[in-house]
Amino acid sequence: MDLADLPLVIQPLQLAHLPAVMEIERESFSLPWPERAYQHELTHNDLAHYYVLYHRSFTPSLAPMPAWQRLWQVMVRRPAAEAGPVLGYGGFWLLYDEAHISTLAVRVTHRRQGLGELLLIAMLGEAQRLGASRATLEVRVSNVAAQALYTKYGFKQVGQRKAYYSDNREDALLLTTPEFASLAFQDLISARRRDLMGRMSQTLLDKILQMH
Ligand SMILES: CC(C)(COP(=O)(O)OP(=O)(O)OC[C@H]1O[C@@H](n2cnc3c(N)ncnc32)[C@H](O)[C@@H]1OP(=O)(O)O)[C@@H](O)C(=O)NCCC(=O)NCCS
Repeated sequence: MDLADLPLVIQPLQLAHLPAVMEIERESFSLPWPERAYQHELTHNDLAHYYVLYHRSFTPSLAPMPAWQRLWQVMVRRPAAEAGPVLGYGGFWLLYDEAHISTLAVRVTHRRQGLGELLLIAMLGEAQRLGASRATLEVRVSNVAAQALYTKYGFKQVGQRKAYYSDNREDALLLTTPEFASLAFQDLISARRRDLMGRMSQTLLDKILQMH
């Protein structure tokens, strides 16, 4: 199955998505950002790039979509027609040639189905398209799920920030990808994308659609 066939859409985050995003934010983080932080990101931070993932209803009459290589561009620019519930979101700040991933979360009921990977692949692709040459992020030392995801996509630890999180003074690991342009990274992303499409069978997608 090609990603273009999936009933999933990734689009730039808009203010109208924020109520759904806040639901996911509160169930995902012990220090959730307040809604006004997202409002500020969307309206005042030119460096910020945020995306939402939602499903669209099946519309077999849709024109065939282009191959995966061109798909992000299609996905991120599609109009917000037929929007279903938001299933996840993520974002980064484009700081010169570095994309710093500021957040990534998937609705609890929809985890372990590849949606986090899908969002991460989309963000890395968009970051590269916008001129970034690598991605960085911070992750809690205790957040083994997210660390496993990032490791799967080539992130490596390059530092540790002591007592970074104010709620429990937990350390953050600072992770970074290899250069996007490196052959090894391109090969890794292609392989992961192929694997992901293999996993996202129609059965799985039907299940996603029935879960709300
Ligand atoms: C991290 C998060 C976004 C992953 O989303 P997801 O849709 O469940 O992840 P996926 O199904 O795409 O999983 C992709 C990979 O992530 C890793 N992973 C995800 N959840 C995991 C878990 N509970 N335990 C171990 N590894 C996990 C695995 O490597 C997995 O690959 P695999 O299926 O081949 O084992 C999700 O758990 C989440 O929203 N967590 C709360 C918010 C958060 O911590 N965000 C990261 C902040 S830095």
